[in-house]
Amino acid sequence: MSGLPRCARCRRPETSASVVSALTPAQALSGLERILGAGGLLSGELPAADLEPYLNDQRRLYHGRALAIALPRTEVEVTGLLAFCNRHHIGVVPQGGNTGYCGGATPDESGRQIVVSLSRLNRIRRIDPLNYSIVAEAGCVLGQVQRAADEAQRLFPLSLGSEGTCQLGGNLSTNAGGVHVLRYGMMRDLVLGLEVALADGRLLSSLGTLRKDNTGYDVKSLFLGAEGTLGIITAASLKLFPKLKSFATAFAAVPGPRAAVALLARLREASGDSVSSFELIPRIAVDLTARHIPGVRDPLDAPHPWYVLCELTSARAADPLGDLLERSLAGGLEEKLVLDAAVARNERDRAAFWKLRETIPEAQRRDGGSLKHDISVPVTSIPDFIERGSRWIADNVPDGRLVAYGHVGDGNLHFNLNQAPGADRAAFLAREAPVKRAIHDLVRDFGGSFSAEHGIGRLKVGELERYAPPIELNLMRTIKRALDPNGILNPGKVLR
Ligand code: FAD
Ligand code: MLT
Ligand code: ZN
Repeated sequence: MSGLPRCARCRRPETSASVVSALTPAQALSGLERILGAGGLLSGELPAADLEPYLNDQRRLYHGRALAIALPRTEVEVTGLLAFCNRHHIGVVPQGGNTGYCGGATPDESGRQIVVSLSRLNRIRRIDPLNYSIVAEAGCVLGQVQRAADEAQRLFPLSLGSEGTCQLGGNLSTNAGGVHVLRYGMMRDLVLGLEVALADGRLLSSLGTLRKDNTGYDVKSLFLGAEGTLGIITAASLKLFPKLKSFATAFAAVPGPRAAVALLARLREASGDSVSSFELIPRIAVDLTARHIPGVRDPLDAPHPWYVLCELTSARAADPLGDLLERSLAGGLEEKLVLDAAVARNERDRAAFWKLRETIPEAQRRDGGSLKHDISVPVTSIPDFIERGSRWIADNVPDGRLVAYGHVGDGNLHFNLNQAPGADRAAFLAREAPVKRAIHDLVRDFGGSFSAEHGIGRLKVGELERYAPPIELNLMRTIKRALDPNGILNPGKVLR
């Protein structure tokens, strides 16, 4: 890493040796303008403020420059753009809602890459309620896809805190997770077909809505989680589910992660697997959200060390989920798995519980510097992992506080640290490398993953090299070379 050039502002090593085009910037821009038409290209003539949103990642870890921002309206424009960029060796960075955590949608500092924003490719192409499927373009905001399904009395279950901004193409390309994975799986599990513009300008059009199709390799799966390094996704056909009609939601205090895991198993059994979310929340996250997010308050009267936000759902309007949840929590109280609980009496309570959970990342951000670790281990190992990880942090990071929360039902924790009150932000953030190493090594010891749902982007390229089995890395590089021989697609992301 040390020999690589560093970003002038953030001093992070550059992972991307940008592909070099023989065209002058003016030639490249005029070629792209011909493909994208009037209004299809934003370039340096605009005020910097208009371009800035495309050039930074949302965590402000990376600050890039670009030759232009392309705003294609159709998949044909995307293929034309790629054919041109491939011919002239111009690096291309796909961008959706730009809510990703790993800098995957940010161009490098060369000023030679094109950012391709998919935001204008945002039509719902068709919805088939009988087939429980929807076909939507990559630039649709996730919330838009959810609403279209809802209007057809169906459910599209992917749900993330960023769902008002992130786009389907970004969700597919990061294989997003979120708060319903326990019941419905990750983005990958919700896909029936894809339309993808390939590096050489061909269009892979595979938008079928078949549930069964065993005809050779599952080519579409290559693009899911590829973070724009193998093609630009322009549309997808997706699975829908029956619309949910009953909900039972509780915010329950538990003595610790071990009790949380036991409670989850009990609830799954008792409810016939109707648990759709089961989120672990530490006391510090309740304090942080109550302090920084207007309208958030502790749902319980007295403080407790840990909580779970659990939700049972059903497509049957009359399912007695509330009774079931209350009985299970009462049983949990007797067995000391539960210390106290608030059950939502109406939609307002439910929204309040979810607001507390969904705003933890924002509250962390407002509180000061934070170090994020999106890890997973087998669900059974969660308590031991938290115990060992907490001990390491207490012994080694005196100016940090652990904020470990997340999708415990999926074995996925956001094992984050925030700077302690009064700590020096820069000194705390300077600990990033050793802290990351210790936590990710511990994750490896537990047979876990250092990136459960946020991907690799630019941030975790080194981690992938360190932890991925060599044969897997080798296969990834072979696939990359086969699909993108000129290395124009999101250079330096996922693979160096
Ligand atoms: P972007 O950030 O724009 O891009 C992400 C990557 O995908 C980049 O590499 C980009 O090049 C590539 N890409 C984008 N569009 C395309 C395309 N059409 N074709 C090919 N490549 C493309 N993530 C979770 O998994 N679970 C969560 O619970 C979760 N919660 C979040 C909560 C908050 C408050 C925030 C801010 C983020 C959260 N995220 C979560 C992270 C983020 O929202 C997801 O990773 C999301 O899927 C990114 O979508 P996007 O459209 O913003 O993608
Ligand atoms: C979440 O689950 O809230 C996000 O994936 C984690 C984060 O935003 O840090
Ligand atoms: Zn998450």
